[in-house]
Amino acid sequence: MRTLEKKPSSPGSWLVLKFGGTSVSSLKNWKTIRDLVDERTQAGFRVLVVHSALKGISNLLEQSIQEALSKDQQLALVDIIKAHSSLSSDLGLDGLDGLNEDIQILKSSLAKVNHQKRIDPPLQAEIMALGELMATRLGAAFLEAQGLDINWIDARRLLCSVKSVQKNEKISYLSAICDFSPDENLKNHLSDLSGTLITQGFIASNENGETVLLGRGGSDTSASYLAAKLKSDGIEIWTDVPGIYSANPRIVRGTRQIKILNYPEAQEIASTGGSILHPRCLAPLRQEKIPLQILCTDQPNLSGTMVSDKVHNITPGVRSISRRTGITLVSMETLGMWHKIGFLSDAFRCFSNLGLSIDLISTSETNVTVTLDKETHDIDSSKLSQLEEHLKEMCRVKILENVEIVSVVGHKIRSILHEIGPALEVFEKHKIHLLTQASNDLNLSFVVGQDQSKPLVQKLHYILVQPDLDSTVFGDTWEQLSHSNQTKPSSDLWWARKRDKLLKIVESKKSIYVYNLETIQKAIDRLRSLDSVDSIYFATKANSNPKVLQVVYEAGLNLECVSAEELEHVLKLFPDIDRKRILFTPNFAPRSEYMYALDKRVWITLDNLYPLVHWPELFKNQEILIRLDTGQAKGHHRYVRTQGLHTKFGIPLFELDEVYRRVTACGTKVVGLHAHSGSGILDSDHWGKVAAILVEASAKFSTVRYINLGGGLGVVERTGQSPLDLSIIDQSLAEAKKTSGLEIWLEPGRYLVAESGVLLTKVTQLKGKGSTRYVGVATGMNSLIRPALYGAYHEIVNLSRLDEARGNVVNVVGPICETTDLLGSNRHLPECVEGDVLLVANTGAYGYVMGSHYNLRKPAEEFTL
Ligand code: LLP
Repeated sequence: MRTLEKKPSSPGSWLVLKFGGTSVSSLKNWKTIRDLVDERTQAGFRVLVVHSALKGISNLLEQSIQEALSKDQQLALVDIIKAHSSLSSDLGLDGLDGLNEDIQILKSSLAKVNHQKRIDPPLQAEIMALGELMATRLGAAFLEAQGLDINWIDARRLLCSVKSVQKNEKISYLSAICDFSPDENLKNHLSDLSGTLITQGFIASNENGETVLLGRGGSDTSASYLAAKLKSDGIEIWTDVPGIYSANPRIVRGTRQIKILNYPEAQEIASTGGSILHPRCLAPLRQEKIPLQILCTDQPNLSGTMVSDKVHNITPGVRSISRRTGITLVSMETLGMWHKIGFLSDAFRCFSNLGLSIDLISTSETNVTVTLDKETHDIDSSKLSQLEEHLKEMCRVKILENVEIVSVVGHKIRSILHEIGPALEVFEKHKIHLLTQASNDLNLSFVVGQDQSKPLVQKLHYILVQPDLDSTVFGDTWEQLSHSNQTKPSSDLWWARKRDKLLKIVESKKSIYVYNLETIQKAIDRLRSLDSVDSIYFATKANSNPKVLQVVYEAGLNLECVSAEELEHVLKLFPDIDRKRILFTPNFAPRSEYMYALDKRVWITLDNLYPLVHWPELFKNQEILIRLDTGQAKGHHRYVRTQGLHTKFGIPLFELDEVYRRVTACGTKVVGLHAHSGSGILDSDHWGKVAAILVEASAKFSTVRYINLGGGLGVVERTGQSPLDLSIIDQSLAEAKKTSGLEIWLEPGRYLVAESGVLLTKVTQLKGKGSTRYVGVATGMNSLIRPALYGAYHEIVNLSRLDEARGNVVNVVGPICETTDLLGSNRHLPECVEGDVLLVANTGAYGYVMGSHYNLRKPAEEFTL
């Protein structure tokens, strides 16, 4: 378990711990709860535990009411009793002894329902409350049996509902709201009781002492009401996932844990469909500035999500993409509202008279469209027809049921509007019914048709939640955190198979890069299997190790160079190489480098008009390629995206006419068009799209024979990412080839070498500071600058202890005097010892080649295997 970082602000300060249904349904979780309570009590807190009914019990209680209404058999009742008795025996308690009274009440209430053939809200509340009452009795008995000092309290004595303004009986009994202003009397009363207090979520009483409910998911709200009333030091919501995620991990791969949020952001995520927190639970905490942590009972060592008002300097950007389904949309259309005073208030009165609350809204001169908030009220068809009848008197009404809302939630969301563009391609064939941008600049919502929100969430997440997102805000992916308990890496990984050999190689070194040539060969084979690709030029900049280049050369691949030095290096290694197997693609290089390349008779790609305008004589009668900016920027980080007006690369498409005039004037033949969009792209559709643009542009030059789609092919860096689907690339390029008859070239670097390389480095020192533990290693950003430069993620394992459980969460840092000298943050490693060998994976591309002698520390040397 993670060590508790907090201390009470004053003696006897309260801490509220809330546990959800899954958290209270097994012995294993109850042992965790015991340890958590014990640890917090030892630290000096008074602990108040609030918890839900056992998993599935609220549904069974609803089902039992339905059964009592319609038939005589009581299947759900049997299941309810079974679930409690089975947990009771797992917890080592005396069967259902403590629950007999509740079970009797349940049976007689259901008999009453059966007899009346009707269920009224007060009785419904009584029945539903039994789930929480029974669960907390079992919980209290278990904790007591474990030797803790426990006081069970009925939540109906702690929380009292306020009168519903709408005078709607159903709402006031089933979705009640309670007062949450700090309550000194309650605090004094509870402080006088001894030990840990345990009470129910979801239930409260009204001023007549009757049972009321706080609405589905209301246990979070109970806990936050109590935290506010007691002015507690904090609240911990323990659930079955480690915090709030950037999207629902069940429908999106690679969702990231959100480490910190402020209250407005958390509120927005909860209100727009994020299912971890109940939307109502945040207001009390925000009012009293009570920090909230969302944690996982199953993995108590993870730090989860923290919501507080201490989140300063947060960067603008997306936090999450959420969706809500089963939404009702009402569109009101009339010319009559144009400048008519009072139209909106008349129309909205129709909604409020029926107890319908409006969620999203957009207006124009002739149309007002709204969605109805399904969380707050039931919307049945009779209500909707009544609404339609009333509205018809003043406008044309269209009601659409089962539409869906997708919300992009973040901080200063307007600043990322331009990035959303590509995701909207999804709407080419579908309609957006309504688009709203919240005035607090925290959310942008799209209302779309039934079944359309899921692909949109996936696409938006892919585009907007990039792996390079601010690591102070975002943590690991869902898949990483779910697998963090796993120990051994898969034996599919070459370095796991060659572990002993690697340990031997590093024995006499502090650090070393090792490349596995067989892995490079396999990547070459995969790319060569693409039928549509005629030539592959390996981007030498990714890894210019002579032995690596030898493998590439011998496999028949060509070589791409970006500097005179790379050209010299390649020509020295392969003096007899056919010069057309070399492509020179420099950017802002001096004139002399073009002269050198022309002299060596290699292919040259121009990515600026300047050489044609100022040095036309160099290119007279030459065949060249032209690098275009197609505006299709993509890549793992904004620093590696090379298209678009804000990058220095490529000739924009609008300068094509000028290129044509210039080359015609100096008798230069454009034989190829080139576009490199960026690096580390995992969207398999990308290259087909770029090919289509280049094919279209090629119509300008009758001399074009080749289109070169650059590199950029990404590899999986984090668990949860999907690898490229080469068959999709092949298919889309085959289409471009068929329509144009042009040869297709690729220019990959990373794809061929990244996975072949590992950086091995030895542990130097360990440190713990505040809540962070550091593992120091012998080399850092002087050998591998990618994490410092792009926040790049490289898997790190302790090669000396590959079989040990990875129970510690640490930052792996190098010896360089820079705060960014961090190879990995929040990594799960076993207890490390000085001299252990850590392996940093996927470092075969842009690792050694970007190394430096900063601090006069030599970067790790290279070794091939
Ligand atoms: N062609 C051109 C014109 C390029 O500029 C590059 C890479 C490539 C091909 C090969 O791209 P690849 O297939 O490797 O993605 N240092 C960064 C990557 C910078 C890429 C620069 N240009 C990183 O470590 O992620």
